[in-house]
This record gives sequence, C-alpha cells and structure tokens, in this order.
Amino acid sequence: MIKIAVLGYGTVGSGVVHVLETNKDLIAKRVGQEIEVSKVLDLRDFEGDPIQAKITHNYDDILNDDEIKIVVEVMGGVEPAYTFVKQALLKGKHVATSNKALVADKGSELLKIAKDNNINFLFEASVGGGIPIIRPIFSSLTAEDITDIKGILNGTTNYMLTKMGEEGAEYDDVLKDAQNKGYAEADPTADVEGYDACRKIAILTALANEQFVDFNDIKTEGITKISKTDMKYADALNATIKLIGASHKENDKVYAYVAPILFEKSHPLAGVSDVFNAIFVKGNMLGDAMFYGQGAGKDATASAVVADIIDEARNLDANIGYSWSEDKLELADIDTLPMKYFVRVKGDKEADVKSSFGDVRFVKADGVADETAFVTDLIKASELNDKLNSFELITAIKAEI
Ligand code: HSE
Repeated sequence: MIKIAVLGYGTVGSGVVHVLETNKDLIAKRVGQEIEVSKVLDLRDFEGDPIQAKITHNYDDILNDDEIKIVVEVMGGVEPAYTFVKQALLKGKHVATSNKALVADKGSELLKIAKDNNINFLFEASVGGGIPIIRPIFSSLTAEDITDIKGILNGTTNYMLTKMGEEGAEYDDVLKDAQNKGYAEADPTADVEGYDACRKIAILTALANEQFVDFNDIKTEGITKISKTDMKYADALNATIKLIGASHKENDKVYAYVAPILFEKSHPLAGVSDVFNAIFVKGNMLGDAMFYGQGAGKDATASAVVADIIDEARNLDANIGYSWSEDKLELADIDTLPMKYFVRVKGDKEADVKSSFGDVRFVKADGVADETAFVTDLIKASELNDKLNSFELITAIKAEI
C-alpha cells in the first residue's frame, strides 16, 4: 500500500479522494498495490464527513510522516503551496499538483529539486483540467519541434464569450450569469483579464521549448473590452471571438501572448463552446493536433491529478524526466509579428481607411451606425497603431480570418 496526503479539501481535493475511491480496484491493479489517502490538510473541519478522521491542521503531521510517499497539492495560489511543496520534495516525497500559479512561478526550481532527489513533480491538471496536454507535450510529442500552441485555456471566459456570441448578450450580463452558475468567481479578475490563461500558456511554452518562461513577459489582454457589437460583426464575418493563449516559433524566435482572437467559424477552435477547453498544437513533423475536453470541474481535474499520482506510484524510485532549463527563454515581442486585425473606428471613414490601409475587407453589422469596421491584412501592431493615429479607435482585435 502506498500512502499519500492531500493538501486542500476543496473542489479538486475532494475530487481526488472521490476518483481514488471510485476507481480504487482498477488503480490498485494498474499500480500493483493500493493507494490510500492517509492525511488531508485543511484549515476547516468536516464534521459528519468520513474525511474528518484524516483531517489535520498541521502540515508537519504530513511532512514528518515517513510513510507518506506522495503529496497532492490542490490548494491553489503560490503561498503557502510553494513552501509546502518544496519542503515535501526536499524530504523525498513526490508531489502532484493542479496549481498553475505554482507551476508557472516556481516550476523550474521544483522540477530541479525533484530531479536532484530522484522523485517527481507532476502537474497534468495545471493546464486544461482533465484534458491530457502536459504528458502529450512531454512524451507523445517529444519527437516534434512544436511551432505553435493555441489554446482556449480558460473555461469561464469561453462560457462568457459563447453566451455573448449565441445570445447577443452584453459582457456585464454574461458575467453575472457565469457568477450565478458558479463558473466565475465573485472576483473574476484572474479569468476575465487573462491572467489564468497567461500562466497556463507560460507552462505549455516552457514545456515545448524546455526552458523557463516568465509569465510576466507574456503580453496579456483579457475579454473585458469585448462587446455585443464586436460579436455582431464577428457573426457578419462568419466568425467568432475566443480568448486564446498562444505561443509561436518562427526563425528561432518564440512569441507568446494571451488575447481575444476573431476566428472564422470553420477554425477548429471556433467550435469549442461553453466551459470546454481545447489546445491546438502544431509540430514540424506531425502537423496539426487538437486536445479537447473539460478544462475544469471536480472529477475531470481530479482524474488528471490521480493520473500523476499513479505515475509517481509506479516510479517511486525514479525521476521520469519532466524538466525545463532554469535559464529564462527570452520571448520575442508579439507586436513585431505581423497579424491580421479586426478594427472599428468612429465615423464613416471608408475612404480614409482605404488610403491608409489599402484594399481591406469592410464589414457591416445590422443596426450599427456611425462607424467603420474592417479586417486588415497582416500588419505589425506598431504599424497598425501608427496608421490608427488619425482615426478615433473603438477597438482592434487580432484576427485569423
Ligand atoms: N478559472 C479556471 C477556468 C479554472 O475558468 O478555466 C480552471 O483552471
């Protein structure tokens, strides 16, 4: 029997216990022995719940228990998760985590400690919830030079944008709806400003390029400026708008960003609706592949955490090689990469737009007046901004159309 401890008995923590109980026999068969949750760290008590017998409020009870071989960190946030995880690894305990903030910020150091101690620090659930993406990039796609990753990495904002597109609803109304349904938190900043997606694309970019990526270097734009009118135009273009975390490699430069992108409806990512996530990966030999599924939620996320626990249980005395170099990858400035933009400016400016931008594609939306909307050809953001100086800009959204 292998004893494990769970740090945090919230949604994912209780999900981990549920998955381990539900699939107990098949997991025991696959590992070769049973896995038992022996302690659970939480500030709260759970009177009336059988888990109470395992609850401790003192992390030292777990750290100093030599029978516990695997620590599952599902608390979220950098502290105290970082301190706890580091202490566990230094004590020779494997760690499985769903915590993207921890992995994006401290992953390089924690991976190195794990390697030095011949144990594992695994984090499949930190990106895409239940969707396999960390292991595929690390393992199945290890023969590939990955040139592109484009992901719908945040379920909350995908739900909101889907509602705005399908129902013609305004941003504030869909935010309230998402909060009522429990998809968005009372403080939705991390989701709607793109910070959550930023950490996730930092992790994927680091894995694909085997180098630490500082999420602070990733230009990040959320969805707060997307309006019902933008969605109307998108529809007129047979397109939709998605919040994307992307990285792109070209001429030995790596670009990464988080931004809303207007996609043609025929693009595989355009059909990813509601709280679902999808990650589109391009490899130089493989071509395109897409990973799709539940990017959040109790059991789906817990399933990915338990997969890491199983891998660790099967490799108690071996580091399985997840790593990236601690040397920071210097990202190239995304604004220097030519992209298309969907632009709205005030007034009837078709003639001026033509003289500045050439023969662009104009678009009209029902019931929208006193403005000019168009899709540029490929252009660098700095050139776009120069050209837009003589217009009253309403919005400019990256477009793949
Ligand atoms: N807030 C996140 C999302 C949860 O909406 O995708 C999963 O990381």
